[in-house]
Amino acid sequence: LTQASSILIENIGALVACTGPAPRGELPTLRDAALLTSGDRIAWVGPSSSLPPCSPDLRIDACGQLVAPGFVDTHTHLVFAGDRAHEFAMRCEGKTYLEIAQAGGGIAATVKATREASEDQLVELARPRLQRLLAQGITTAEAKSGYGLELAHELKMLRAIRRLSLEGPVELVPTVLAAHAIPVEHKGSRDRYVDACIREILPAVAEAGLARFCDAFVEEGAFALDEARRILEAGAQLGLRPRLHADQLSDGGGAELAASLRAATADHLEYISDKGIAALAEAHVTAVLVPASTWFLRMDRAAPGRRLLEAGVNVAMGTNLNPGSAMSENLALTLSLLCLVNSLTPAQALWAATRGGAAALGLDDRGSLEAGKRADLVVHACRTVDHLPYHAAVSHARVVLARGQVVVDSPLAPCP
Ligand code: NIG
Repeated sequence: LTQASSILIENIGALVACTGPAPRGELPTLRDAALLTSGDRIAWVGPSSSLPPCSPDLRIDACGQLVAPGFVDTHTHLVFAGDRAHEFAMRCEGKTYLEIAQAGGGIAATVKATREASEDQLVELARPRLQRLLAQGITTAEAKSGYGLELAHELKMLRAIRRLSLEGPVELVPTVLAAHAIPVEHKGSRDRYVDACIREILPAVAEAGLARFCDAFVEEGAFALDEARRILEAGAQLGLRPRLHADQLSDGGGAELAASLRAATADHLEYISDKGIAALAEAHVTAVLVPASTWFLRMDRAAPGRRLLEAGVNVAMGTNLNPGSAMSENLALTLSLLCLVNSLTPAQALWAATRGGAAALGLDDRGSLEAGKRADLVVHACRTVDHLPYHAAVSHARVVLARGQVVVDSPLAPCP
């Protein structure tokens, strides 16, 4: 929306910079603050009374409200074709995610639709989803492949992710998830598919520079621990940092595997054991909480967010946008669920969704508001951090800056 070389945000009632570690209590808050950008960076943050003389291209009145870093969504399956609304209806009738997958639905259904779609179609389908993420203040999002499960289709998905990222303004961090499920044509020959991942898919993805992370889904009906280990070790050899869908539907030792691989993240964790929590803490693996899928799958267990934090584990969050287990771009919903389902405080939820997420993705240049960092931030239409999850599932993002430009100016959350 703007081409400004500098923007001054003034009249900030509460500036939550998220510069420190995950909070035990409140997040440090600067009252009556201002923030000045220069190009794509933050040039100055501080109390309004000490603002240095400046003549910005644009002034934004924060109306005495909350300003916080742009959100970092660390777990999405943004790119896919088709939908699985009938599976949602089946779950409402009592069928489980696993039962639906075993009956031929689940990931396999989305793989079929995604293979049938062209790269252009995947981009067109994903763009409005990405716009909905951005509208809520998400300025960086991870995005996975994993509905191709064959070299050409995995590459097609990752190229679609790269195109969407280049279009901006949301920067996408790509992950290859060839180990999402055994494709139907390999059901009787799973070793051959594991070998194809190791010998064919991961090397081609790495060679094309199409992914930063390599992920795997360890679960009954997906990959066994030793298969995931082989795939993630092969990825690591190629420079693709490991991540893991771990302990989502059962305690399969996924957290311990993530720890032994020194993975960047272990995601889901509804069934993580005490041993798993200790292992993540010891190995400095970030726990990525994705409570929208806990809720969407009607699970009776949730990832122990507060216990993970208390054990010293870095915690991040993801919307887990995907057509099966979390068909929602609603970050505001996820913030509420982080509190209500994972027992984080509102301050911890905001921290996990900003600084925690940036740390999980290895992005030191964002996730906090300080001079020199990327000018990715949100002017919210509320006064306190507590209000973000309290008004459940409603976005408060009024103005969003990405790389120092206004990319959202929402009439839905007007200045009061
Ligand atoms: O993160 N758990 C595995 N993968 C996705 C679900 C994918 C799907 O059902 O299409 C998740 O929840």
